[in-house]
Amino acid sequence: MPLSIVILAAGQGKRMQSSLPKVLQPLAGEPLLQHVINTARKLNPDAMYVVYGHGGDQVKAVFTNESIQWALQTEQLGTGHALAQAIPAIPDDHDVLVLFGDVPLIHAPTLQALLAAANNSLALLSVKLKDPTGYGRVIRNNAGQVVRIVEHKDANTKERLVDEANTGVLVANAKQLKQWLSQLKNSNSQGEYYLTDVISMAVRDSLKVNAVLAPTEAEVLGVNDKVQLAEVEAHLRRQRATEMMLKGATLVDPTRVDIRGQVTIGKDVFIDVNVIFVGNVYLEDNVRIGPNCYIKDTRIGANTELHPNCVTDNAVIGPQCVIGPYARLRPEAQLADHVHIGNFVEVKKSNIGSHSKANHLTYIGDADVGKQCNIGAGTVTVNYDGANKWRTTIEDNAFVGSGSMLIAPVKIGTGANTGAGSTITRDAPAGKLTLARARQVTLEGWQRPKK
Ligand code: UD1
Ligand code: CA
Repeated sequence: MPLSIVILAAGQGKRMQSSLPKVLQPLAGEPLLQHVINTARKLNPDAMYVVYGHGGDQVKAVFTNESIQWALQTEQLGTGHALAQAIPAIPDDHDVLVLFGDVPLIHAPTLQALLAAANNSLALLSVKLKDPTGYGRVIRNNAGQVVRIVEHKDANTKERLVDEANTGVLVANAKQLKQWLSQLKNSNSQGEYYLTDVISMAVRDSLKVNAVLAPTEAEVLGVNDKVQLAEVEAHLRRQRATEMMLKGATLVDPTRVDIRGQVTIGKDVFIDVNVIFVGNVYLEDNVRIGPNCYIKDTRIGANTELHPNCVTDNAVIGPQCVIGPYARLRPEAQLADHVHIGNFVEVKKSNIGSHSKANHLTYIGDADVGKQCNIGAGTVTVNYDGANKWRTTIEDNAFVGSGSMLIAPVKIGTGANTGAGSTITRDAPAGKLTLARARQVTLEGWQRPKK
Protein backbone atom coordinates (compact mmCIF):
# COMPACT_ATOMS: atom_id res chain seq x y z
CA MET A 1 0.00 0.00 0.00
CA PRO A 2 1.43 3.42 -0.91
CA LEU A 3 2.08 5.59 2.17
CA SER A 4 1.69 9.29 2.86
CA ILE A 5 2.82 10.68 6.18
CA VAL A 6 1.26 13.84 7.58
CA ILE A 7 2.94 15.62 10.48
CA LEU A 8 0.73 18.07 12.35
CA ALA A 9 2.82 21.03 13.41
CA ALA A 10 0.66 24.13 13.17
CA GLY A 11 -0.02 24.69 16.83
CA GLN A 12 1.45 27.63 18.69
CA GLY A 13 2.28 25.77 21.85
CA LYS A 14 1.02 28.49 24.18
CA ARG A 15 2.16 26.53 27.20
CA MET A 16 5.81 26.82 26.09
CA GLN A 17 5.63 30.55 26.98
CA SER A 18 8.05 31.24 24.15
CA SER A 19 8.26 33.36 21.02
CA LEU A 20 9.81 30.38 19.22
CA PRO A 21 7.15 28.13 17.63
CA LYS A 22 6.81 24.89 19.59
CA VAL A 23 8.02 22.58 16.83
CA LEU A 24 11.24 24.60 16.58
CA GLN A 25 12.09 24.22 20.27
CA PRO A 26 15.42 22.42 20.49
CA LEU A 27 15.65 18.83 21.65
CA ALA A 28 19.23 17.51 21.75
CA GLY A 29 20.17 20.56 19.70
CA GLU A 30 17.68 19.94 16.89
CA PRO A 31 14.12 21.24 16.44
CA LEU A 32 11.37 18.94 17.74
CA LEU A 33 9.98 18.65 14.24
CA GLN A 34 13.35 17.51 12.87
CA HIS A 35 13.21 14.43 15.10
CA VAL A 36 9.77 13.51 13.79
CA ILE A 37 10.85 14.07 10.17
CA ASN A 38 13.95 11.88 10.67
CA THR A 39 11.86 9.02 12.03
CA ALA A 40 9.23 9.42 9.31
CA ARG A 41 11.96 9.16 6.63
CA LYS A 42 12.91 5.72 7.93
CA LEU A 43 9.53 4.43 6.74
CA ASN A 44 10.29 5.44 3.13
CA PRO A 45 6.93 7.13 2.55
CA ASP A 46 5.79 8.03 -0.97
CA ALA A 47 5.08 11.54 0.25
CA MET A 48 5.51 13.54 3.42
CA TYR A 49 3.36 16.51 4.42
CA VAL A 50 3.83 18.97 7.22
CA VAL A 51 0.83 21.01 8.31
CA TYR A 52 2.20 24.33 9.48
CA GLY A 53 0.62 27.55 10.63
CA HIS A 54 1.87 29.21 13.73
CA GLY A 55 5.31 30.70 13.04
CA GLY A 56 4.65 30.01 9.33
CA ASP A 57 7.68 30.99 7.29
CA GLN A 58 9.99 30.73 10.29
CA VAL A 59 9.20 27.02 10.50
CA LYS A 60 9.48 26.44 6.75
CA ALA A 61 12.85 28.24 6.58
CA VAL A 62 14.45 25.75 8.96
CA PHE A 63 13.64 22.78 6.75
CA THR A 64 14.51 24.05 3.27
CA ASN A 65 16.77 21.04 2.70
CA GLU A 66 14.00 18.52 3.33
CA SER A 67 11.71 17.31 0.56
CA ILE A 68 8.45 18.10 2.25
CA GLN A 69 5.05 19.19 0.97
CA TRP A 70 3.84 22.04 3.14
CA ALA A 71 0.15 22.49 3.91
CA LEU A 72 -0.80 25.78 5.51
CA GLN A 73 -3.40 25.84 8.26
CA THR A 74 -4.11 29.55 8.63
CA GLU A 75 -6.24 29.18 11.75
CA GLN A 76 -5.59 26.48 14.32
CA LEU A 77 -9.07 24.98 14.57
CA GLY A 78 -8.02 21.55 15.82
CA THR A 79 -6.16 18.40 14.83
CA GLY A 80 -8.96 17.22 12.49
CA HIS A 81 -9.00 20.57 10.73
CA ALA A 82 -5.20 20.38 10.49
CA LEU A 83 -5.24 17.02 8.73
CA ALA A 84 -7.98 18.32 6.43
CA GLN A 85 -5.47 20.89 5.06
CA ALA A 86 -3.18 18.15 3.73
CA ILE A 87 -5.61 15.39 2.83
CA PRO A 88 -6.96 16.74 -0.52
CA ALA A 89 -3.49 16.27 -2.06
CA ILE A 90 -3.24 12.62 -1.03
CA PRO A 91 -4.44 9.96 -3.51
CA ASP A 92 -7.42 7.85 -2.32
CA ASP A 93 -5.50 4.58 -2.27
CA HIS A 94 -2.79 5.78 0.13
CA ASP A 95 -2.45 4.77 3.74
CA VAL A 96 -2.15 7.97 5.74
CA LEU A 97 0.02 7.94 8.85
CA VAL A 98 -0.58 10.93 11.11
CA LEU A 99 2.24 12.05 13.40
CA PHE A 100 2.44 15.01 15.76
CA GLY A 101 5.26 17.52 15.59
CA ASP A 102 5.29 17.61 19.39
CA VAL A 103 5.71 13.85 19.94
CA PRO A 104 9.39 13.57 19.01
CA LEU A 105 10.69 10.30 20.47
CA ILE A 106 8.49 7.94 18.51
CA HIS A 107 10.47 4.99 17.03
CA ALA A 108 10.23 3.68 13.48
CA PRO A 109 9.62 0.00 14.52
CA THR A 110 6.59 1.10 16.56
CA LEU A 111 5.19 2.88 13.52
CA GLN A 112 5.87 -0.16 11.36
CA ALA A 113 3.87 -2.31 13.77
CA LEU A 114 1.06 0.23 13.61
CA LEU A 115 1.05 0.21 9.79
CA ALA A 116 0.86 -3.58 9.83
CA ALA A 117 -2.14 -3.39 12.18
CA ALA A 118 -4.02 -0.92 9.97
CA ASN A 119 -4.87 -3.55 7.41
CA ASN A 120 -7.40 -1.52 5.36
CA SER A 121 -9.00 -0.29 8.53
CA LEU A 122 -8.00 2.21 11.18
CA ALA A 123 -5.21 1.70 13.66
CA LEU A 124 -4.25 4.01 16.47
CA LEU A 125 -1.35 4.02 18.84
CA SER A 126 -2.35 4.10 22.48
CA VAL A 127 -0.39 3.97 25.71
CA LYS A 128 -1.07 3.02 29.31
CA LEU A 129 -0.19 5.94 31.53
CA LYS A 130 0.08 6.14 35.30
CA ASP A 131 -1.14 9.69 35.04
CA PRO A 132 -3.12 10.24 31.82
CA THR A 133 -4.25 13.75 32.80
CA GLY A 134 -4.59 15.94 29.73
CA TYR A 135 -4.59 13.10 27.22
CA GLY A 136 -7.54 11.80 25.20
CA ARG A 137 -8.80 8.46 26.61
CA VAL A 138 -9.42 5.33 24.56
CA ILE A 139 -12.94 4.13 25.35
CA ARG A 140 -13.71 0.43 24.77
CA ASN A 141 -17.01 -1.46 24.92
CA ASN A 142 -17.69 -4.49 27.12
CA ALA A 143 -16.19 -6.74 24.47
CA GLY A 144 -12.98 -4.71 24.74
CA GLN A 145 -13.32 -3.14 21.31
CA VAL A 146 -12.34 0.49 20.80
CA VAL A 147 -15.44 2.60 20.22
CA ARG A 148 -14.25 6.19 20.53
CA ILE A 149 -11.76 8.63 22.01
CA VAL A 150 -12.82 11.26 24.46
CA GLU A 151 -10.61 14.28 25.13
CA HIS A 152 -9.67 14.89 28.76
CA LYS A 153 -11.59 18.16 28.83
CA ASP A 154 -14.74 16.47 27.51
CA ALA A 155 -14.47 13.31 29.63
CA ASN A 156 -16.72 12.52 32.57
CA THR A 157 -15.40 11.28 35.91
CA LYS A 158 -15.65 7.62 34.94
CA GLU A 159 -13.92 8.17 31.59
CA ARG A 160 -11.12 10.03 33.31
CA LEU A 161 -10.33 6.88 35.26
CA VAL A 162 -9.35 5.12 32.01
CA ASP A 163 -5.60 4.77 31.90
CA GLU A 164 -5.31 3.98 28.18
CA ALA A 165 -4.42 7.25 26.47
CA ASN A 166 -4.43 8.31 22.84
CA THR A 167 -0.96 9.15 21.54
CA GLY A 168 -2.39 10.98 18.53
CA VAL A 169 -0.60 8.68 16.08
CA LEU A 170 -2.98 6.89 13.73
CA VAL A 171 -3.19 5.20 10.33
CA ALA A 172 -6.18 5.08 8.02
CA ASN A 173 -7.02 4.96 4.33
CA ALA A 174 -7.00 8.35 2.57
CA LYS A 175 -10.37 7.96 0.91
CA GLN A 176 -12.11 7.13 4.18
CA LEU A 177 -10.32 9.90 6.03
CA LYS A 178 -11.55 12.41 3.45
CA GLN A 179 -15.14 11.35 4.12
CA TRP A 180 -14.79 11.38 7.89
CA LEU A 181 -12.98 14.71 8.05
CA SER A 182 -15.74 16.37 6.04
CA GLN A 183 -18.22 15.26 8.71
CA LEU A 184 -16.33 16.58 11.75
CA LYS A 185 -18.15 18.95 14.10
CA ASN A 186 -16.63 21.30 16.65
CA SER A 187 -19.33 20.91 19.26
CA ASN A 188 -17.03 20.12 22.17
CA SER A 189 -15.59 21.92 25.17
CA GLN A 190 -12.71 23.42 23.14
CA GLY A 191 -14.75 24.31 20.04
CA GLU A 192 -12.19 22.42 17.91
CA TYR A 193 -12.40 19.92 15.08
CA TYR A 194 -10.92 16.86 16.77
CA LEU A 195 -9.14 14.30 14.63
CA THR A 196 -9.96 11.82 17.37
CA ASP A 197 -13.64 11.90 16.36
CA VAL A 198 -12.84 9.81 13.27
CA ILE A 199 -12.56 6.79 15.57
CA SER A 200 -16.26 6.70 16.37
CA MET A 201 -17.04 7.36 12.70
CA ALA A 202 -14.99 4.32 11.70
CA VAL A 203 -16.87 2.22 14.25
CA ARG A 204 -20.18 3.60 12.90
CA ASP A 205 -19.08 2.52 9.40
CA SER A 206 -18.50 -1.01 10.76
CA LEU A 207 -14.73 -0.88 10.54
CA LYS A 208 -12.69 -2.58 13.20
CA VAL A 209 -10.40 -0.15 15.00
CA ASN A 210 -7.11 -1.62 16.15
CA ALA A 211 -5.37 0.00 19.06
CA VAL A 212 -1.71 -0.88 19.25
CA LEU A 213 -0.04 -0.25 22.60
CA ALA A 214 3.19 1.72 22.48
CA PRO A 215 6.05 -0.33 23.95
CA THR A 216 7.17 2.45 26.29
CA GLU A 217 5.72 5.62 27.70
CA ALA A 218 8.79 7.66 26.79
CA GLU A 219 8.34 7.09 23.07
CA VAL A 220 4.99 8.82 22.96
CA LEU A 221 5.52 11.64 25.43
CA GLY A 222 4.08 14.86 24.08
CA VAL A 223 5.86 18.16 24.63
CA ASN A 224 3.50 20.91 25.70
CA ASP A 225 5.63 22.90 28.15
CA LYS A 226 9.27 23.36 29.16
CA VAL A 227 8.95 20.79 31.94
CA GLN A 228 7.95 18.10 29.43
CA LEU A 229 10.66 19.32 27.06
CA ALA A 230 13.26 18.68 29.75
CA GLU A 231 11.78 15.24 30.48
CA VAL A 232 11.94 14.27 26.83
CA GLU A 233 15.51 15.62 26.64
CA ALA A 234 16.45 13.41 29.60
CA HIS A 235 14.97 10.32 27.91
CA LEU A 236 16.81 11.01 24.69
CA ARG A 237 20.06 11.69 26.52
CA ARG A 238 19.78 8.37 28.33
CA GLN A 239 18.88 6.54 25.12
CA ARG A 240 21.86 7.91 23.19
CA ALA A 241 24.25 7.34 26.07
CA THR A 242 23.01 3.74 26.31
CA GLU A 243 23.68 3.19 22.60
CA MET A 244 27.18 4.53 23.09
CA MET A 245 27.86 2.29 26.08
CA LEU A 246 26.55 -0.75 24.22
CA LYS A 247 29.10 0.02 21.51
CA GLY A 248 31.79 -0.17 24.18
CA ALA A 249 32.36 3.36 25.45
CA THR A 250 32.88 3.87 29.18
CA LEU A 251 30.69 6.72 30.44
CA VAL A 252 31.38 7.65 34.03
CA ASP A 253 27.81 8.99 34.32
CA PRO A 254 25.43 8.45 31.38
CA THR A 255 23.08 11.12 32.72
CA ARG A 256 25.83 13.69 32.26
CA VAL A 257 26.82 13.16 28.63
CA ASP A 258 24.87 14.93 25.89
CA ILE A 259 24.95 13.75 22.30
CA ARG A 260 23.55 16.44 20.04
CA GLY A 261 24.36 14.76 16.76
CA GLN A 262 26.28 11.62 15.86
CA VAL A 263 29.29 10.21 17.62
CA THR A 264 31.22 7.38 15.98
CA ILE A 265 33.50 5.54 18.37
CA GLY A 266 36.37 3.06 18.29
CA LYS A 267 37.25 0.65 21.08
CA ASP A 268 37.80 1.58 24.74
CA VAL A 269 36.77 5.18 24.53
CA PHE A 270 36.49 6.81 27.97
CA ILE A 271 34.21 9.78 28.61
CA ASP A 272 34.10 11.65 31.88
CA VAL A 273 31.19 13.74 33.17
CA ASN A 274 29.57 16.82 31.64
CA VAL A 275 30.77 16.25 28.10
CA ILE A 276 28.72 17.64 25.22
CA PHE A 277 29.07 16.30 21.69
CA VAL A 278 27.62 18.32 18.82
CA GLY A 279 27.35 17.50 15.11
CA ASN A 280 29.53 14.73 13.71
CA VAL A 281 32.22 13.55 16.06
CA TYR A 282 34.66 10.68 15.56
CA LEU A 283 36.54 9.21 18.49
CA GLU A 284 39.12 6.59 17.60
CA ASP A 285 40.38 3.77 19.84
CA ASN A 286 41.37 4.63 23.42
CA VAL A 287 40.42 8.28 23.22
CA ARG A 288 39.91 9.77 26.69
CA ILE A 289 37.76 12.84 27.18
CA GLY A 290 38.04 14.64 30.49
CA PRO A 291 35.20 16.41 32.30
CA ASN A 292 33.43 19.51 30.94
CA CYS A 293 34.53 19.27 27.32
CA TYR A 294 32.45 20.68 24.44
CA ILE A 295 33.29 18.80 21.25
CA LYS A 296 31.73 19.81 17.97
CA ASP A 297 32.33 18.33 14.51
CA THR A 298 35.72 17.03 15.53
CA ARG A 299 37.81 13.96 14.76
CA ILE A 300 40.08 12.71 17.55
CA GLY A 301 42.80 10.16 16.79
CA ALA A 302 43.63 7.00 18.71
CA ASN A 303 45.12 7.31 22.22
CA THR A 304 44.63 11.05 22.37
CA GLU A 305 43.59 12.55 25.67
CA LEU A 306 41.59 15.71 26.26
CA HIS A 307 42.08 17.05 29.77
CA PRO A 308 39.18 18.91 31.44
CA ASN A 309 37.44 21.97 30.01
CA CYS A 310 38.45 21.83 26.35
CA VAL A 311 36.38 23.30 23.53
CA THR A 312 36.82 22.03 19.99
CA ASP A 313 34.95 23.00 16.84
CA ASN A 314 35.63 21.63 13.39
CA ALA A 315 39.08 20.39 14.37
CA VAL A 316 41.08 17.35 13.40
CA ILE A 317 43.27 15.99 16.18
CA GLY A 318 45.76 13.26 15.38
CA PRO A 319 46.66 10.21 17.46
CA GLN A 320 48.67 10.29 20.75
CA CYS A 321 48.00 13.98 21.36
CA VAL A 322 47.54 15.62 24.75
CA ILE A 323 45.11 18.54 24.78
CA GLY A 324 44.16 20.90 27.58
CA PRO A 325 43.13 21.53 30.24
CA TYR A 326 41.38 24.66 28.94
CA ALA A 327 42.43 24.39 25.30
CA ARG A 328 40.37 25.78 22.45
CA LEU A 329 40.63 24.29 18.98
CA ARG A 330 38.72 26.38 16.48
CA PRO A 331 37.70 25.61 12.89
CA GLU A 332 40.40 24.14 10.68
CA ALA A 333 42.79 23.38 13.47
CA GLN A 334 44.67 20.33 12.18
CA LEU A 335 46.95 18.55 14.59
CA ALA A 336 49.26 15.70 13.56
CA ASP A 337 50.31 12.96 16.00
CA HIS A 338 51.90 13.48 19.45
CA VAL A 339 51.00 17.16 19.53
CA HIS A 340 50.64 18.87 22.91
CA ILE A 341 48.28 21.81 23.23
CA GLY A 342 48.13 23.05 26.80
CA ASN A 343 46.13 25.42 28.97
CA PHE A 344 44.77 28.62 27.50
CA VAL A 345 46.09 27.84 24.05
CA GLU A 346 43.87 28.69 21.07
CA VAL A 347 44.46 27.21 17.62
CA LYS A 348 42.60 28.34 14.51
CA LYS A 349 43.02 27.51 10.80
CA SER A 350 46.47 26.13 11.45
CA ASN A 351 48.40 22.93 10.84
CA ILE A 352 50.59 21.67 13.63
CA GLY A 353 53.16 19.00 12.84
CA SER A 354 54.07 15.82 14.64
CA HIS A 355 55.54 16.12 18.18
CA SER A 356 55.15 19.90 18.30
CA LYS A 357 54.12 21.57 21.54
CA ALA A 358 52.39 24.77 22.58
CA ASN A 359 51.78 24.23 26.24
CA HIS A 360 50.78 27.58 27.72
CA LEU A 361 48.86 30.79 26.99
CA THR A 362 49.29 31.00 23.23
CA TYR A 363 47.40 32.00 20.08
CA ILE A 364 48.18 30.12 16.89
CA GLY A 365 46.03 31.39 14.01
CA ASP A 366 46.58 31.07 10.26
CA ALA A 367 49.85 29.25 10.82
CA ASP A 368 51.75 26.25 9.51
CA VAL A 369 53.84 24.75 12.25
CA GLY A 370 56.29 21.97 11.36
CA LYS A 371 57.44 18.93 13.33
CA GLN A 372 59.15 18.92 16.75
CA CYS A 373 58.59 22.64 17.28
CA ASN A 374 58.37 24.20 20.70
CA ILE A 375 56.18 27.26 20.98
CA GLY A 376 56.93 29.10 24.21
CA ALA A 377 54.37 30.43 26.65
CA GLY A 378 52.58 33.58 25.59
CA THR A 379 53.40 33.37 21.89
CA VAL A 380 51.03 35.11 19.48
CA THR A 381 50.87 34.73 15.74
CA VAL A 382 49.81 38.27 14.93
CA ASN A 383 47.70 37.35 11.92
CA TYR A 384 45.39 40.33 11.47
CA ASP A 385 46.36 43.82 10.37
CA GLY A 386 42.86 45.17 10.78
CA ALA A 387 41.89 44.38 7.21
CA ASN A 388 43.54 41.16 6.09
CA LYS A 389 44.65 37.88 7.63
CA TRP A 390 48.25 36.73 7.04
CA ARG A 391 49.93 33.38 7.58
CA THR A 392 52.85 32.48 9.79
CA THR A 393 55.21 29.63 8.93
CA ILE A 394 57.19 27.92 11.64
CA GLU A 395 59.48 25.25 10.21
CA ASP A 396 60.57 21.93 11.75
CA ASN A 397 62.51 22.00 15.02
CA ALA A 398 61.98 25.71 15.56
CA PHE A 399 62.08 27.00 19.14
CA VAL A 400 59.91 30.05 19.61
CA GLY A 401 60.84 31.83 22.83
CA SER A 402 58.19 32.76 25.36
CA GLY A 403 56.31 35.96 24.71
CA SER A 404 57.19 36.09 21.01
CA MET A 405 54.97 38.22 18.78
CA LEU A 406 55.22 36.81 15.26
CA ILE A 407 53.95 39.56 12.94
CA ALA A 408 52.56 37.76 9.89
CA PRO A 409 53.37 37.21 7.14
CA VAL A 410 56.58 35.88 8.61
CA LYS A 411 58.65 32.70 8.63
CA ILE A 412 60.67 31.08 11.39
CA GLY A 413 63.21 28.83 9.63
CA THR A 414 64.12 25.21 10.33
CA GLY A 415 65.80 24.86 13.70
CA ALA A 416 65.65 28.62 14.32
CA ASN A 417 65.28 30.11 17.81
CA THR A 418 63.60 33.36 18.69
CA GLY A 419 64.56 35.07 21.93
CA ALA A 420 61.89 35.41 24.61
CA GLY A 421 59.93 38.64 24.33
CA SER A 422 60.87 39.25 20.70
CA THR A 423 58.58 41.00 18.25
CA ILE A 424 59.49 39.28 15.01
CA THR A 425 58.55 41.31 11.93
CA ARG A 426 60.98 39.78 9.41
CA ASP A 427 61.84 36.14 8.67
CA ALA A 428 64.06 34.45 11.26
CA PRO A 429 66.74 32.45 9.43
CA ALA A 430 67.19 28.71 9.93
CA GLY A 431 69.47 27.45 12.69
CA LYS A 432 70.13 30.89 14.24
CA LEU A 433 68.95 32.81 17.30
CA THR A 434 67.00 35.91 16.36
CA LEU A 435 66.30 38.55 18.98
CA ALA A 436 64.11 41.59 18.55
CA ARG A 437 63.72 43.48 21.77
CA ALA A 438 65.01 46.57 23.49
CA ARG A 439 68.29 46.12 25.36
CA GLN A 440 67.94 45.95 29.16
CA VAL A 441 69.21 48.94 31.05
CA THR A 442 69.50 49.65 34.75
CA LEU A 443 69.34 53.30 35.83
CA GLU A 444 71.83 54.13 38.54
CA GLY A 445 70.66 56.62 41.20
CA TRP A 446 66.98 56.15 40.38
CA GLN A 447 64.61 56.47 43.32
CA ARG A 448 61.02 55.46 43.85
CA PRO A 449 58.65 58.42 43.82
CA LYS A 450 57.35 59.39 47.28
CA LYS A 451 53.89 60.62 48.28
C1 UD1 B 1 -3.90 15.53 21.19
C2 UD1 B 1 -5.06 14.55 21.04
C3 UD1 B 1 -5.19 13.73 22.29
C4 UD1 B 1 -3.90 13.02 22.60
C5 UD1 B 1 -2.73 13.99 22.64
C6 UD1 B 1 -1.42 13.20 22.68
C7 UD1 B 1 -6.80 15.52 19.59
C8 UD1 B 1 -8.09 16.26 19.55
N1 UD1 B 1 -6.28 15.28 20.80
O1 UD1 B 1 -4.20 16.42 22.23
O2 UD1 B 1 -6.25 12.77 22.18
O3 UD1 B 1 -4.01 12.33 23.83
O4 UD1 B 1 -2.69 14.79 21.45
O5 UD1 B 1 -0.28 14.03 22.75
O6 UD1 B 1 -6.26 15.19 18.55
N2 UD1 B 1 -2.11 20.95 15.72
C9 UD1 B 1 -2.25 21.55 14.50
N3 UD1 B 1 -3.35 22.33 14.26
C10 UD1 B 1 -4.30 22.52 15.17
C11 UD1 B 1 -4.15 21.91 16.43
C12 UD1 B 1 -3.06 21.12 16.68
O7 UD1 B 1 -1.39 21.40 13.62
O8 UD1 B 1 -5.27 23.24 14.86
C13 UD1 B 1 -0.92 20.11 15.98
C14 UD1 B 1 -0.05 20.69 17.07
O9 UD1 B 1 0.97 21.52 16.50
C15 UD1 B 1 0.57 19.46 17.70
C16 UD1 B 1 -0.49 18.38 17.48
O10 UD1 B 1 -1.33 18.85 16.43
O11 UD1 B 1 1.77 19.07 17.05
C17 UD1 B 1 -1.30 18.10 18.74
O12 UD1 B 1 -1.98 19.28 19.14
P1 UD1 B 1 -2.23 19.62 20.67
O13 UD1 B 1 -3.03 20.86 20.72
O14 UD1 B 1 -0.96 19.58 21.41
O15 UD1 B 1 -3.16 18.38 21.09
P2 UD1 B 1 -3.37 17.78 22.54
O16 UD1 B 1 -4.27 18.67 23.32
O17 UD1 B 1 -2.05 17.46 23.12
CA1 CA C 1 0.16 17.93 22.58
